[in-house]
Amino acid sequence: MNRPQPRTRHHLPKRTVSIIGTGSYVPEKILTNAELEKLVDTSDEWIVTRTGIRERRIAAEGETTSDMAAKAAIAALENSGVGAEEIDLILVATVTPDMFFPSTACFVQTKIGAKKAACFDVSAACSGFLYALEVAQQFITSHTYNTILVIGADKLSSIVDWKDRNTCVLFGDGAGAAVLRHRGGGHGVVATHMGSNGDLAEILHIPGGGCKSPLTAENLGQSLNTIQMNGKETYKQAVTAMLGAANSVLEQSGLGFDDLACIIPHQANLRIIEAIASRMNLPMDRFMVNLDRFGNTSAAAVAIALDEAHRTGRMQVGDYVLLVVFGGGLTWASSIIHW
Ligand SMILES: CC(C)(COP(=O)(O)OP(=O)(O)OC[C@H]1O[C@@H](n2cnc3c(N)ncnc32)[C@H](O)[C@@H]1OP(=O)(O)O)[C@@H](O)C(=O)NCCC(=O)NCCS
Repeated sequence: MNRPQPRTRHHLPKRTVSIIGTGSYVPEKILTNAELEKLVDTSDEWIVTRTGIRERRIAAEGETTSDMAAKAAIAALENSGVGAEEIDLILVATVTPDMFFPSTACFVQTKIGAKKAACFDVSAACSGFLYALEVAQQFITSHTYNTILVIGADKLSSIVDWKDRNTCVLFGDGAGAAVLRHRGGGHGVVATHMGSNGDLAEILHIPGGGCKSPLTAENLGQSLNTIQMNGKETYKQAVTAMLGAANSVLEQSGLGFDDLACIIPHQANLRIIEAIASRMNLPMDRFMVNLDRFGNTSAAAVAIALDEAHRTGRMQVGDYVLLVVFGGGLTWASSIIHW
């Protein structure tokens, strides 16, 4: 007997995914290099020459990752003209959730009133925003969802050892968001790449606070709940991984470095970005850089930079834009978007 085939979403043609709006939020409080000189044995000159960072934002007392994420989300919704009630899914990339559970995405849902959304967090450290973008893309391409809010948000000030000059000068707090939908007309994500290397987990990690080493009264003084990093090794791995990720999406898309109107990299260290630019043989003005003002805000960094690039007209309709990130895990990811 010939049964009619059910018309499920699996029979629909795949569709492209566009960023239709962006937003960001950084806390008001500015922490300058001069102020850090009073906390640890460092200098403005050392920080600027080794990293390019001049100042960073620090969340107010009681201000959480979901507070910052919700403010970035509201800005992205306004920018896209989409109402909170239209959102099908909220993804928050973070390593500083308000709590282990519920997810930070659930807290954002309540704060912005996105009643019909499903919510979960993505954990990929500084690469989290692009990982979440790729997850969102799969849901839209497959017609599972139409409208997705992707947020990168971190309150690194809550996991930094403020006595460790090797790390505390590098990081800051903030959030960035994007609204994703199918737009058509040849616009949208052209190619994506994600990669990880768990063998090198220990060069950038927080060893304590999880089930492996729960925090106890005995070990609290050992700063196990703060970022531990081998800076030199992280630096080397970041350059190699980000170049590899960029090459992968260029190969997939058939584009060359010269076709890229704007490159938005993870904002960790100006020297890392300069090393990548020189290996790509591209001028630095092709790269979006705002780490001098915000430092490394982990999953938020590329999202805040994307919003700034968008709002300041760094990319025009029809441009090819490369996003490329790197973080603990190790993790890395890249995406080319036809704007
Ligand atoms: C951390 C980083 C800026 C250090 O720069 P570097 O050129 O590698 O510096 P070095 O490791 O050679 O350190 C040189 C000296 O500066 C000292 N130093 C470290 N932090 C300092 C600070 N804030 N102020 C002054 N001196 C500092 C070190 O103790 C070292 O002293 P020593 O030679 O007496 O031991 C750099 O390695 C880096 O950016 N790594 C990647 C970090 C990163 O991006 N992490 C997040 C990835 S998502």
